Amino acid sequence: MSKGPPTLRLDRLLANLGYGSRREVQRLVWNGLVTLDDETLEDSDQRIAVTPDLSSRMFVDDEPLDPPPGFALMLHKPLGVTCSHKEAGPLVYKLLPERWRRREPAISTVGRLDKDTSGLLLMTDDGALLHKIISPKSHVSKRYDVTLDRPLRGDEERIFASGELMLDGEDKPLLPAPMEVLSPTRAFVTLTEGRYHQVRRMFAAVGNHVTALHRDRVGGLSLPDDLPAGEYRILGEAEIALVLAAR
Ligand code: URA
Repeated sequence: MSKGPPTLRLDRLLANLGYGSRREVQRLVWNGLVTLDDETLEDSDQRIAVTPDLSSRMFVDDEPLDPPPGFALMLHKPLGVTCSHKEAGPLVYKLLPERWRRREPAISTVGRLDKDTSGLLLMTDDGALLHKIISPKSHVSKRYDVTLDRPLRGDEERIFASGELMLDGEDKPLLPAPMEVLSPTRAFVTLTEGRYHQVRRMFAAVGNHVTALHRDRVGGLSLPDDLPAGEYRILGEAEIALVLAAR
């Protein structure tokens, strides 16, 4: 027998999505503000099949339902914003709708970008997906556009590709990291691991200094040109597959 989609009580579904307490969302239903397939839902304890297309079929107060649990998004992370739930200052979570901070399961960043790094940041509430993307076994590559303080010496490409570069304070060499020179002070570097401040420390190890760092690709998914810094887009299944497909 094939397993159908998971089901959730309507009040639980809406409360988990951050629309309010169980009591508050019951009130939304009783006030006739929740519809499914153009029918007003009257019963807050009816079970709803949580399918990926629910946002196009269910409306709350005339607005499409927020993405149901098990979704992922890409954010164009601006400079100066931190990938953390609790640090002081601007946080990536504040760039998402306020209600989403009350979602259960919570949304997390898939890995991190430094405060001073911009670019493609994935976020999801799907723990299994998150672990699949960050697992070394998945070999998901991340491409960085690096701007340097000083011109390249010429041996960086060979050193980064060697699989022998050891960063200060570490006891395991870095995996090979292909580099593509774009100009004397600019290059793409592709990583398949994510050590602390890795790109900045790699260039420090070859006597240079990173002045700007931007991630433009994760796996086969590129940051779209029409997604401005600070904005996000929900990923479809094909885009999630792209993240995991390309190495
Ligand atoms: N390497 C860095 O140094 N910083 C990042 O944010 C990502 C990779």
